[in-house]
Amino acid sequence: MKHFIDLKDISIKDLRKILVDAKRRKNLRKKLNPLEVDNGYPLKGKLLIQMFEKSSLRTRLSFYLAIKQLGGSTLTLRPDELHLSKGAESIEDTAKILSNFGNAFMLRTNDDKKLEEFRKYLSIPIINGLSPSSHPTQILSDIFTVEEIKKKPISKLNITWIGDCNNVLNSLVSASIKFSFKLNIGCPKNYQPKKKVLNYIKRNNNKISIYEDPRKATANADVIFSDKVISMNDKVNKAKKLKYFKKFKIDKKLMGFAKKDCIFLHCLPRGKEVDDKIFSSKKSKVWQQALNRVHVQKSILLYIFGKLR
Ligand code: CP
Ligand code: NVA
Repeated sequence: MKHFIDLKDISIKDLRKILVDAKRRKNLRKKLNPLEVDNGYPLKGKLLIQMFEKSSLRTRLSFYLAIKQLGGSTLTLRPDELHLSKGAESIEDTAKILSNFGNAFMLRTNDDKKLEEFRKYLSIPIINGLSPSSHPTQILSDIFTVEEIKKKPISKLNITWIGDCNNVLNSLVSASIKFSFKLNIGCPKNYQPKKKVLNYIKRNNNKISIYEDPRKATANADVIFSDKVISMNDKVNKAKKLKYFKKFKIDKKLMGFAKKDCIFLHCLPRGKEVDDKIFSSKKSKVWQQALNRVHVQKSILLYIFGKLR
């Protein structure tokens, strides 16, 4: 059974297959309405159960449309309405019920261990819809967006991350290793990636560099990524952290160090890490980026169901 928990665990061959399928499907449905189904109803009758332990707008909507466009349906569970969240039912029994009633489970969680526990007891595939350590569906979709806009394989581009070394960055690091692209990370010294991530980088790749000077990280960039300085459930001294990130704000001056045709991407929602003018400029491709989640997640669903051609 195929799961989609971390990009690290998925072969580059399969990741590429997902992107190729997404491109083909996106092209085929240019004139269709959001709820019209792709030819052949590839996931006819399938039920995707979703559960969000943290807020979500894009992931929720995009999985809803993704499964619908493949001929299936989705049901979203509220964790506070389940016995599980009150400690009144085990993950094991909850997983058994999910497996008997549905065909796949998408979980956004505040605890990575839960993904592993569910994986252990489910007999249906599980998708990680964001955890404290990664956001794989977002980053795979972002690679799709980068290649769509730049019309080049990402391995030929200079990618820059300016901001907090969080779950989204961790998945970008995994992607850099899998897809072999150059990744510059610009962040304050005391907010660098966690040791585990640094060791993973050391073991696998020499295309990733970390800079304390955002201008150095941005030099010659084709794409600049960012994310909120304070993530959901980030239990830090917020004022102190925001202060450290002040000089990492993406504005016209910083963008000036990148290539002329550099684009700006952000998974959203945004905070103050990007200047409003840059965010609303032609360089910013954030709306296209958000909508592409539907297309890539459709192919992720086909992958976990073993239906990718
Ligand atoms: N980017 C993203 O995952 O957005 P949501 O938190 O709104 O799902
Ligand atoms: N890093 C952010 C991503 C939100 C989509 C968070 O975890 O809150």
